[in-house]
Amino acid sequence: MFELERHKPERGIVVIFGASGDLTRRKLAPALYNLARQNLLPDGTVVVGYGRTEMTDEVFRNRLGESVSTFSRTQPIESDIWNALARRMFYQRGSYDGGDAYPALHRRLLELDERFGTGGNRIFYLAVPPGVVPAILRNLSSVGSLERRRRCDEGTCYLRVVFEKPFGHDLESARRLSNEIDRLLEEPQIFRMDHYLGKETVQNISVLRFANSIFEHVWHSASVRYVRVTVAETLGVEGRGGYFDSTGILRDILQNHVLQLLTLVTMEPPASLSADAIRDEKAKVLRCLRPLEGEEVVRSVARGQYGRGVVDGVEVPAYREEEGVDPNSATETFVGLRTYIDNWRWAGVPVYLCAGKRLAQALTEVSIEFKEAPRVLFGAMEGVELKPNRLTLRIQPDEGVSLRFASKVPGLKMELRDVEMDFPYGSAFPAASPEAYERLLLDVMGGNSALFARRDEVELAWQFATSILEGWQKRPPPEFPNYAPGTWGPVSAERFFAEGASYADAGDR
Ligand SMILES: NC(=O)c1ccc[n+]([C@@H]2O[C@H](COP(=O)([O-])OP(=O)(O)OC[C@H]3O[C@@H](n4cnc5c(N)ncnc54)[C@H](OP(=O)(O)O)[C@@H]3O)[C@@H](O)[C@H]2O)c1
Repeated sequence: MFELERHKPERGIVVIFGASGDLTRRKLAPALYNLARQNLLPDGTVVVGYGRTEMTDEVFRNRLGESVSTFSRTQPIESDIWNALARRMFYQRGSYDGGDAYPALHRRLLELDERFGTGGNRIFYLAVPPGVVPAILRNLSSVGSLERRRRCDEGTCYLRVVFEKPFGHDLESARRLSNEIDRLLEEPQIFRMDHYLGKETVQNISVLRFANSIFEHVWHSASVRYVRVTVAETLGVEGRGGYFDSTGILRDILQNHVLQLLTLVTMEPPASLSADAIRDEKAKVLRCLRPLEGEEVVRSVARGQYGRGVVDGVEVPAYREEEGVDPNSATETFVGLRTYIDNWRWAGVPVYLCAGKRLAQALTEVSIEFKEAPRVLFGAMEGVELKPNRLTLRIQPDEGVSLRFASKVPGLKMELRDVEMDFPYGSAFPAASPEAYERLLLDVMGGNSALFARRDEVELAWQFATSILEGWQKRPPPEFPNYAPGTWGPVSAERFFAEGASYADAGDR
């Protein structure tokens, strides 16, 4: 959607910190390979992995080769393409907290510049746990790798740093991290990754709204009954219990992915497709999002934690029984809330946000439910229950867009039923969608920030989430566990979701 404003990606050295980790294995290496396969990776791009794990260049290449074979969305692997890419992959062993490692890395990058003509262009990708990030920044800065406007012999070159989520733990820590980063880098050099923004279906939200004429006419409080964003998983913590237990679903999913989806669906049309014009509008939505504080946290937020149960005939452990989780944990695995966007367009329209683990169905979707048709004519007929029209943007896994409306059931009686008009992404466009990380890596290489969150967005989102967290801290947690796996969360969520119908009308409550 931002094609008109996109700059061409330029060759450089992509330095991945934490290159022995899961993200590199499952996402970054396959994305680099698939970009090369599509001829989109700038010629001569060099990749340097960095980490404490002992590895030679050869071992590093073999490990990533295996990862690509396992996780690439395209199969089989085209060995000539992989081999050409692998020849430009290197590994530098070192600690994160200083010593000789950073000067050695700096020297190695200069050597690779000489050898491959990468012109001093750098992308530092911080694929490490968040606690390690400040040390990396300080050390890169101390060896001169983070000069704000790097000077190169051949003129200007770029320096970009990619930050993975979580970006802070609450408002204060996010601000502290941003202040630290701002001392070293300019905002256009900072890429805060929210991989949801790289998904095709998420990019399509703006196309649907602003490349068509029919939707914007009804996209406001006069026509819309509620807006709902749902990120539901059927899985539990999947081996990440230690991390998740200190995080919770509000921080892990709602503060970033859910609020990012909400801003795209509810923002005003941007003045242009430039990164800042789009991010200005997204930030405005977050500024108008009604904070939930004090008693409002009790009235408008439901939190839950799953217990033990049976899903698809298989017994699954309670959250508190998962590895790495405190057996008395009060961490939430479900959050559902109702708030409002207090601006001209959305005044009075409830916004429902929900994220949870071990729910009835894995789905990420945005629903816009419209006001009911007047109860005259068909609505006034005995036995006829007209449901409001609803537009559903299905982000994953069953990507598409559908519209619910009433239709006459064929026959001699006047009988009405709801039907769905459906646009399934997969069959409308047979070519497989790129992975979000392909889109986003390419955008970093081109310096295109539209699909990355800006500092003000991140902090506004934390402000909203932090007031809920503070409200929770002031009260004893609910009796956990309070929902069974394979359901739509705790009964307490019904008090406001019932008003806006169940999440997927799945009838599982
Ligand atoms: N994995 C995903 O799919 C995914 C998705 C979205 C976001 N993220 C984010 O991306 C970042 C990296 O994720 P990841 O899954 O690749 O992490 P990971 O596998 O736990 O860690 C990556 C590497 O960081 C190094 N490291 C440094 N300090 C560490 C510490 N205290 N504990 C563990 N490892 C440490 C390790 O390499 P050495 O021992 O070799 O130094 C490790 O292999 C995280 O911020 C994560 O939240 C990950």
